[in-house]
Amino acid sequence: MFVDCHSHVVPSGDDGAATIDDGRALCLSAARHGTSVLFATPHVWPHLPLTADRERAVRVAFEQVRAGAGLELRLGFELTPTRALLAEDPHRYVLEGTDRVLLEVDFVGSAELTFALAEHVERAGLRPVIAHPERTEAVLDDPAVADELAARGWALQVNASSLTGRHGPDIEELGWSLVEGGVAAVVASDGHRTTRPAHLDEAYRLARERIGERTSSLFDGSALGVTPSRTAVRAASQGA
Ligand SMILES: [Fe+2]
Repeated sequence: MFVDCHSHVVPSGDDGAATIDDGRALCLSAARHGTSVLFATPHVWPHLPLTADRERAVRVAFEQVRAGAGLELRLGFELTPTRALLAEDPHRYVLEGTDRVLLEVDFVGSAELTFALAEHVERAGLRPVIAHPERTEAVLDDPAVADELAARGWALQVNASSLTGRHGPDIEELGWSLVEGGVAAVVASDGHRTTRPAHLDEAYRLARERIGERTSSLFDGSALGVTPSRTAVRAASQGA
């Protein structure tokens, strides 16, 4: 059973699921592929911040998707670093039921703001999870940046789709080097839509072949302190 801490299955005005039905279908598909706990993490973008109105709409949509999800759905957010976020209390963005905040490295440009935001999260008594560093210019140009992020004690999250080659050979190779080198702590789907679903099973199978027993903690939520509820365990054992 997998714990997936990064997906876009709740309609929120971003590039993830567009409707409640689409969101539920993505959740049901994730459950069929072995996920028992799935975090919906709508983007918080510089041009799409989490205003009070948007947050209300997201929470309504989340409850609607959750009602037909077939797995344990929890809410979180994925922060794209901005200066504005440095002035906010990051507690509003935690991955539900944890002390973790998911934030990404900008796809283009330096990782400077990522370090600043992660430090801000830590100062608030929370723990950063760094989304898909292997997909970013800063880390592709200089993989030592990933080592620096991990050396701070921050959990690096590699995308399953990077490991299965969806984003090209350079990102696949970097993703595997982070996993095999023990730099990455978590694998998540970052699933957005039917053509980019929230599946972890294929990456799990590949990881088992490459790193054996070390695979479990990358996929089972233990690195984030997440334990599936009894309901989620029951649903998974019934093949929901
Ligand atoms: Fe994402």
